[in-house]
Amino acid sequence: MLADGNVRAIGVSNFMPNHLRRLLAETSVIPAVNQIEVHPYFQQTALQRIHAEHGILTQAWSPIGGITSYLGGSKTTFDDPTLQNIARQHGKSPAQVMLRGHLQQGRSAIPKSTKPARIAENFDVFDFELSKDQLTAIDALDTSVRGGPDPDSITLETFGREIPEA
Ligand SMILES: NC(=O)c1ccc[n+]([C@@H]2O[C@H](COP(=O)([O-])OP(=O)(O)OC[C@H]3O[C@@H](n4cnc5c(N)ncnc54)[C@H](OP(=O)(O)O)[C@@H]3O)[C@@H](O)[C@H]2O)c1
Repeated sequence: MLADGNVRAIGVSNFMPNHLRRLLAETSVIPAVNQIEVHPYFQQTALQRIHAEHGILTQAWSPIGGITSYLGGSKTTFDDPTLQNIARQHGKSPAQVMLRGHLQQGRSAIPKSTKPARIAENFDVFDFELSKDQLTAIDALDTSVRGGPDPDSITLETFGREIPEA
């Protein structure tokens, strides 16, 4: 499809290092983007380094840690004292601090909200700058614990479904 000009770029999602290694070994196309879970509590820095080595953009899903709240977790990014403290220093919200952090570190971020006011809030991140120390403090929140499923557990047996129109 890329060669025929039917698509301009190919992206992948939830590819872990083993999946990327296989893709790069068996095909000639480097994906433009890998959309993966990234928020302050789960940062996948080793995977992000692999992206940087190959020029693959890291796109963060659950970029403000929504998955730490809507799955009923006990510790949520929105209530995190470090994020709240940084947010106070800039007169911004924890969500805006997290989104600004992604942008300053070169990631694409795709926050989701059903509320117009929050959608506007989530765009309003271009009038402040996090300091190096603040970014380091956010990096230090990494717990290495996934919110979402482990991509290796996603099989046809566990997630397969019929697509009638296919
Ligand atoms: N590729 C994948 O495997 C994968 C997996 C999961 C998600 N995604 C995609 O990633 C996108 C975002 O992920 P996500 O929805 O999991 O997480 P998210 O964007 O980090 O968080 C969304 C949650 O945060 C709330 N929220 C949004 N803005 C807020 C704000 N400014 N302050 C406080 N709370 C706020 C939302 O509630 P309200 O709606 O009530 O505002 C919602 O509960 C979605 O488009 C989703 O489709 C992809």
